[in-house]
Amino acid sequence: MVNFIKTDTLKQKPTDESKLGFGRIFTDYMFTMRYSPEEGWHDAVVEPYHAFEMDPAAMVLHYGQTIFEGLKCYRREDGGLQLFRPRDNFARMNISAERLSIPQFDADLALEGLLKLLDVERDWVPHQKDTSLYIRPFIIATDPYVGVRASNSYIFCIILSPVGAYYAHGLSPVGIYVEDNYVRAVRGGFGFAKTAGNYAASLKAGEEAKKKGFDQVLWLDGVDRKYVEEVGSMNMMFVVDGVLKTPALNGSILAGITRDSILKLAEKDGIKTSEERIAIADIFAAADEGKLDEAFGTGTAAVVSPVGELCWEGRKITVSSGEIGPITAKMYNQLTDIQWGRAEDPFGWIMKL
Ligand code: COI
Repeated sequence: MVNFIKTDTLKQKPTDESKLGFGRIFTDYMFTMRYSPEEGWHDAVVEPYHAFEMDPAAMVLHYGQTIFEGLKCYRREDGGLQLFRPRDNFARMNISAERLSIPQFDADLALEGLLKLLDVERDWVPHQKDTSLYIRPFIIATDPYVGVRASNSYIFCIILSPVGAYYAHGLSPVGIYVEDNYVRAVRGGFGFAKTAGNYAASLKAGEEAKKKGFDQVLWLDGVDRKYVEEVGSMNMMFVVDGVLKTPALNGSILAGITRDSILKLAEKDGIKTSEERIAIADIFAAADEGKLDEAFGTGTAAVVSPVGELCWEGRKITVSSGEIGPITAKMYNQLTDIQWGRAEDPFGWIMKL
């Protein structure tokens, strides 16, 4: 059961939806529940958005025992609201929880909490094209203890943020720096989990890439440093000689829900797809042979983001003449038409609210 605590102090909603950006504005309410070994997950409640009071010794602050998810609520043209594959996000969150020794939660209860939160916050879902309400569920470890072990107490929370495009320059192709010094994750680590440490590990490389004029870093595998992994905020796809290729799920990359959706959309369209180990050298060789047709990233926040430039070991290549390629555009349109309710959903991905 999910309780509700009302507030009469509401925030001013953004008036100019073209300036939302990503992840800076938060709504009036949040969902929380708590975990203790005695009570399990309990006290599920939609309550006014507020700061947590936390012990400085809370384990999440020291050892990063935390996980998160990202999904979106979309407003259709008829004003109605819908979610995209929300059960898949909560299922993946429990996979991350298992890896981080966080107790499993009841995905039905989490979904009930989300639906109740969205019901209260429906007016926060923006109206303008390409905007949505970003949903950020997360769990933090709260035991006040500085010894190393799994926490006994946790908070599960969902916050909401009205958003526009993830990248400041919208759908224009991004420049990607192929990282050959730092690594993000190794097999046997927790690269497949949505946990803070993976993102903390990426920050320095991201900053250095920005200084060199690139938007994002493309990670290579941590052992051979030869094979394409992911970008961190998105999975990576290449169109090589007409085939849509993406790195196979190998334990060190995230099993992206957008990644899976694009593979299914492409297959339905008769585009040949392949999940495989992709050597970065082969991508550059394909570019030399004129066979690298397109490259793009996929993610909830990033949606489908065309890649216009790749730089690896001092070599820069331009992809699709720095423009958005035809398969990238088609995938973007088909996915977003389903997400915003402009097209039928033949896959059963949409949950109408
Ligand atoms: C998402 O796409 O929801 C993500 O989690 C990426 C995020 C780190 C911005």
